[in-house]
Amino acid sequence: MAIPTLHLGLIGAGRIGCMHAENLARRIPSARLLLVADIDKEAAAKCAERNDIPEAVGDYSVVLNHPDIRAIVICSATHTHAMIVEAAAAAGKHILCEKPLALSLAEIDRALAAVTRAGVKMQVGFNRRFDANSQRVRQAVAQGEIGQPQRLHIISRDPSPPPLEYLKTSGGIFLDMTIHDFDLARFLIGSEVVEVYSAGEALGHPDMAALGDLDTVVTLLRFANGVIGTIDNSREAVYGYDQRVEAFGSGGVISTGNQYPNNAVLSTAQGVRRDLPLHFFLERYADSYLAEMKAFVAAVLGDSPVPVTGEDGRMATALALAARRSLEANRSVGV
Ligand SMILES: NC(=O)c1ccc[n+]([C@@H]2O[C@H](COP(=O)([O-])OP(=O)(O)OC[C@H]3O[C@@H](n4cnc5c(N)ncnc54)[C@H](O)[C@@H]3O)[C@@H](O)[C@H]2O)c1
Repeated sequence: MAIPTLHLGLIGAGRIGCMHAENLARRIPSARLLLVADIDKEAAAKCAERNDIPEAVGDYSVVLNHPDIRAIVICSATHTHAMIVEAAAAAGKHILCEKPLALSLAEIDRALAAVTRAGVKMQVGFNRRFDANSQRVRQAVAQGEIGQPQRLHIISRDPSPPPLEYLKTSGGIFLDMTIHDFDLARFLIGSEVVEVYSAGEALGHPDMAALGDLDTVVTLLRFANGVIGTIDNSREAVYGYDQRVEAFGSGGVISTGNQYPNNAVLSTAQGVRRDLPLHFFLERYADSYLAEMKAFVAAVLGDSPVPVTGEDGRMATALALAARRSLEANRSVGV
């Protein structure tokens, strides 16, 4: 008997799009990419060639109109997500959309309404929920292994900022970067955030400051269940990608550390040292990107609910916008 296969199209063949293409082409036997679109036609062609995708085009509407494509993976620049979600839903395609869904709640509401109207599935690319460390912390919180949860601390620092061209359309640090941590915080604690307070600066990057963006941010979260959370972000940790979590409660604490290419420790007369952590998201979260895509393909093929919803995408965006308002007003903001 033939294995059921999901035919997909990819929109956006940049850093994250090509990584998803490789997973779909090489590691998910029940998926087949038929078409990739990117306004940079050379990028689309390269991605197609590397990942055995039969066709590459410049105009994404070709993907939406392809009769054999049932699902679309949206990895184009952030400001294009909402309009492409709306058009994909109207074309009756299931959707996996990279974060953030959009830069405003009005755009998200329009896109979510289109998804509901069309009755298609939409998953949002919050891959960290699928990471083994995140899943273990969630399990410990949900099953009472740390007693009553009281504190959540997330450290999330990039090794280096993205190019200025990317930053210009990214929506700023809260919508582009901290949004992963807002979603992770909701996922780990299993309760909604009701209040945020943010402080931030552009300490190391005058060019970022000129764009009105920040490289250093701390956000305090108050959850409906009383937990107090903190998120510590930097765009530039010179020692590499720093991704740690600690959940503390009345019965104990669970913490996760960074991951390394090896666990060798070199001890000499001068000191003790080890290699740097896995450098950035493509290396550190490789397993989680594959798991999220497998979950999406399985949900469409099996007609089951997607594990990360449009509403999750909306909530994380609402928190990012509240954090930005808090920073601007220098006071806490209710959500
Ligand atoms: N989940 C994650 O961990 C993660 C990581 C990185 C990026 N992202 C998100 O993925 C998106 C892309 O990020 P990236 O790092 O790959 O950026 P990128 O700049 O490397 O790639 C974006 C690509 O989209 C193309 N594009 C722009 N507008 C288009 C349009 N109208 N039609 C077709 N293609 C278009 C660009 O030409 C470019 O090739 C962003 O929204 C970003 O927030 C998510």
